[in-house]
Order: sequence, then C-alpha cells, then structure tokens
Amino acid sequence: MAESMKGLHRTHRCTEVSHDNIGETVTVMGWVQKRRNLGSLIFIDLRDRSGLLQIVFDEPQVGKEGFAKAETLRSEFVVAVTGSVEKRSAAVNENLKTGDIEIIAADIRILSESETPPFPIEENSQTKEDMRLRYRYLDLRRPDIQRNLMMKSKVAMLLRSFMAKEGFLEIETPILTKSTPEGARDYLVPSRVHPGNFYALPQSPQLFKQLLMCSGYDRYFQIARCFRDEDLRADRQPEFTQADMELSFVDVDDVIDINERLLQYVFKEAAGVEVSLPLPRMTWQEAMDRFGSDKPDTRFGMELVNVSKTVEDCGFGVFTSALEQGGSVRGINVKGQGSMPRKKIDKLVEFAKGYGAKGLAYLVVNEDGSYKSSFAKFMTDEALKALIEKMQGEPLDLLLFAADKNKIVWDVLGALRLELARELELIDRNQYNFLWITEFPLLEWSEEEQRFMAMHHPFTMPMEEDWEKIDSDPGAVRAKAYDIVLNGTELGGGSVRIHQDDIQEKMLEVLGFTKESAYEQFGFLLNAFKYGVPPHAGLAYGLDRMVMLLMHCESIRDVIAFPKVKDASCLMTDAPNVVDEKQLEELALSVEVSQEREQ
Ligand code: AMO
Ligand code: AMP
Repeated sequence: MAESMKGLHRTHRCTEVSHDNIGETVTVMGWVQKRRNLGSLIFIDLRDRSGLLQIVFDEPQVGKEGFAKAETLRSEFVVAVTGSVEKRSAAVNENLKTGDIEIIAADIRILSESETPPFPIEENSQTKEDMRLRYRYLDLRRPDIQRNLMMKSKVAMLLRSFMAKEGFLEIETPILTKSTPEGARDYLVPSRVHPGNFYALPQSPQLFKQLLMCSGYDRYFQIARCFRDEDLRADRQPEFTQADMELSFVDVDDVIDINERLLQYVFKEAAGVEVSLPLPRMTWQEAMDRFGSDKPDTRFGMELVNVSKTVEDCGFGVFTSALEQGGSVRGINVKGQGSMPRKKIDKLVEFAKGYGAKGLAYLVVNEDGSYKSSFAKFMTDEALKALIEKMQGEPLDLLLFAADKNKIVWDVLGALRLELARELELIDRNQYNFLWITEFPLLEWSEEEQRFMAMHHPFTMPMEEDWEKIDSDPGAVRAKAYDIVLNGTELGGGSVRIHQDDIQEKMLEVLGFTKESAYEQFGFLLNAFKYGVPPHAGLAYGLDRMVMLLMHCESIRDVIAFPKVKDASCLMTDAPNVVDEKQLEELALSVEVSQEREQ
C-alpha cells in the first residue's frame, strides 16, 4: 500500500548527505536499488538522481513495523527514510560518494511499490537499446543517462548566462511556420482553418533571426527546437536542439571571436576542459585536401596525399584514366600495417566501394624490397619508387589509393582514414580538437537536380574577392561561411548573410529561383530587407551534439530524453500513428497510402 507524504520533508538528496552530517537526523527519498538481508539487519541502496546511499534497518531502531516494511522492499520501490547519519561500521565503499557513511533508519514509508522492471536499472546497461527505449521512463533512471541530461541542462544554463553577459536577447521564433531553406525535407502540419494548406516545422530559426536583426534587436539568442525530415544517423535526430545566435554589424572574425570565448567558457565550466585560444582555422579546400572531409578529426594523422602529378604517366590505366577525366589520385599511408592480411585489405576495398569507389589500390613494400600490391605489375619500378617516395612510404607501410572524381576520392579516403583510426585505436579520447573550417564553397553542384544548390543556405554572403566569378565559374566562388568542428563532428555552423539586394537577387537567380518563386517562398524576408537592414551574421550549435561530445557518448540518443529511432518513430509512444477519421475530416484530409509504401 502506497503511503502519503503527509508531514514528511526531504532534507537531502542521497549524495548530499556526507561525513559532515554524522550524528544528524535526515530524511531521504528515492528508489530502492537493491536490498540485502543479513539476518537481523537489512541493507538497502537508495537511489535518486544524485547517486546512491546505504540505509540500514535494525529492528530495535526502526521498530517492528518498520522492519517488517523493510522486509517487503524490492527494487524500484519508492521510499522515504528518516534516520541518523553514521560512520560506516564496516565495508567502506571507496567507489561511492557516500561510501563511508550510512543511515540508520528510524522510520520508513513506502511511497510507491514497483513491479519487477523489464530490465535492471543500472549503469552501462547490457539491455538492447530497443527495449530500453520502449521503457524509456525506466531507462532514464539509469545513472549514465541521468548524468547526460544533467550535463545538458548545465550546458544550456551556461550558454544562456554567457550570452546574457554578452548582451544577447533571448527571443522565441515560431514553430508553426513556413518552409525554411536549410535543405532537408520539412515536417508539415495541416491547417484546419485553411483546408489544404500546411505549416512547416522550422528546420532552424534562420529567417526569423535575420528578421530580428532587421528589426534592430542587434544580438539574438535562442535554444531552439529544429525539425528535419532526413535520414537518421548516430549524430542526427529528426528533432533536435540548436543553440542559435545572430549578430548585427559584424563580420566573420567577430562571430568567431565571440564563439571561441563561448566554447572556452562552456567547456571549462561544464567539464573542466581547458580550451586554449585562438582555435585553429583551416579553409575548406585545405580540409578536403588533407583530410578528405569538411569536418576533419585532427586527433591523428594519416593525411591524404595528392599523387596525381606523380602518377600522371605511370602506365596504370585506373590512375591515368581518372586523371584524364578531370579527377585525381590520392592516397593514405597506414603506417606499419603492411602485414595486414589480404582478407582484411579486401574488407577495406569493400568499405571503399560503399563510399562510391570503383576500387581501392594498395601497395606494400615488403622487407625484402618486393611488393605486395594490386597494381605494381602495371607500373615501372621507377614510377613505383616515385609514388612510394611521395607517400613517404617505408617498408611495411600499407599505402592505399583511390582514383576518381575529387568528391569520391575525398569521401572514400576521408571515411577510410576514420575507419582505420578507429580500428587501429589511433584516437586519444581525452583530446578536444576544435577546428574552424572557413571559406566553404558558396555553391554545390547537384548531379541529381543538375543545378547549383546553396552549400549552406541561399542567404550566405559570398567572399567579396570571388563575386566576379559568379557567372563565369560559379563553383569557384567561396562563401563567408564557417563551421566549428570538434573531434571530427560538426558542432556548429553559420555564415555572414547577404544584406545587399543585388547580391541576393543574383544568388537566387543562380540557384534557379525566378523572381516570383523567390518572393513566394521568402518574400517577407526580401521585402523586409528593403527597409534598412544591418550587415549581420550568425551561427548555430547542435546542443545535443555538444553534450554528446562532452560526455563521450556514441549516440545522440543518449543525450535526448525521448529520442526517435532510425525510422524516426518513438518506440515508447508509438508515434507517428494513424489518426481518427474525425481528425482527418476536421482537416479536410483523406489519406490513401499506396500499397508499396505501406509497411
Ligand atoms: P546547420 O544546418 O549547419 O545550420 O545546423 C547547425 C547545427 O545543428 C546541428 N544539427 C543537428 N543536430 C542533430 N540532428 C540533426 N538532424 C541536425 N542537423 C543539424 C549540427 C549543426 O552544425 N541556420 C543555420 C545556422 C546559421 O547559419 O546560423 C543552420 O541551421 O551541429
Ligand atoms: P582492375 O584493373 O580493375 O582489376 O583494378 C586493379 C586494382 O585497382 C584493383 O586493386 C582495384 O581495386 C583497383 N582499382 C580499381 N578502380 C580503382 C579506383 N577508381 N581507384 C583506386 N583503385 C582502383
């Protein structure tokens, strides 16, 4: 029978009781982690979000009734215990914050009983994630998840306090809105009042924050929920949280400066991590050339080497034909891995093919000077020597090469580099390598759509010195866009925005908008800009990702209270679900799911 709280008052969380309270009477409340009967004594570990505390029930102290209650306790019962704090008589637990004390219970109330939970509530759970997510309310009781969510709360508070000190205003922007131009698919919400019309959930507050600059708010900040209907990955959720900002009268360096100080403050205060400033910067071009990625993990080497020039006339058709078609040949040197078994190398080839490679060429110089290679036979000794030298190859290094269009070569070797570093354990997990990536291309060619798309979004300012190339060579125009990367994850990104009509008009034209279609989609922004707009710029962090990296989590789901799984459903609530006919009628909608789309 569940008892009431009447007259009870919690004095401490479990681990707020310490050595200093010895002799005091305290009242603690929480969940029974486990119970042990030791003849005349019953021990329980009491758990709340702060941690564990040992309670001892001794019949002479707690009384007959109290002792009888203690005998019925099982895991996850919710209890309130009043008792005195004592030094532990035996078995001091060094691993526990409260390991040198215990509470000698004088009174106990069972506030709520519990059925046997479907899995143990414990740190480093071995239970399958699907099961844990189905019972997320129980999973959320586990200390590791609780620590993550407490860290998230702390980071949000630190961000707010930093931004407030720097003169930012926290302003909310709508959730029911119009499509925003971040390039993912929108989530749509049907309107009842306007049958056949839909709101879009925001992919980011982008346009609204620019309007706030237009309206003179100067410095805006928001912890904003964003929605993107895109394929999920370990660091991607369909709804996630941005720490979003926009500033007026600034250029790239101003945004970088304030954000470096922000990162230094948050990482220090949240996790004691010292971030020394200024943070390194790298242009997009350099990042791609050296790491094959616009979010390089710089905690290890194995950088890409462009060997195109070296293999120009090497005689190996795979290489030369890639070059003839305007591509490149690049390699990585996997130091000392030349004795990797053939089977494992074949696996790397398959891995590379997963990233679009047609193949992966490898070369090892054996200790006796002979070669183990998939292509050595096609090349002269001289050409091979030049290639090995360019790769700084030594005997028993494993040299891997990809030949293709730049984009494929970068993708393949960038991914391979990460995969090998993980496998060979080359990454120091205690390192925090921040890196700004700057000077992104303004536009990206879409094979699928056969047109240029904005790499960041259509309001990103081109670099002044490149603008003249917008007609002759649009792909070569760089943007005033920047990303902040941490340990190979894109933590945040932003740009300086276009505030001049003529540049904006041209940009929209290059992106394939007609004047009408541009006005239809973002006319409110284009119109607003006719009434005096300050130069402005901004940036948004993925808050979930920031916490994920701070807590060394493998998955973004571990820092979100109620996350979605790969197919964007919620295992606990079963969302999304079929709705009532009546709801559909109100919305003037009828639903017909084509058979092949039905699950
Ligand atoms: P961007 O699209 O780069 O920029 O997003 C900013 C940051 O948000 C995080 N993020 C995500 N986190 C989890 N799940 C997702 N699906 C997801 N998508 C993005 C990333 C990313 O760096 N409006 C611009 C910002 C600006 O220009 O000011 C924007 O949204 O950490
Ligand atoms: P092939 O002549 O197609 O049998 O290829 C010879 C070797 O080159 C094999 O090891 C292939 O995996 C490799 N290879 C094929 N295409 C590429 C490519 N685009 N880049 C790098 N290596 C390749």
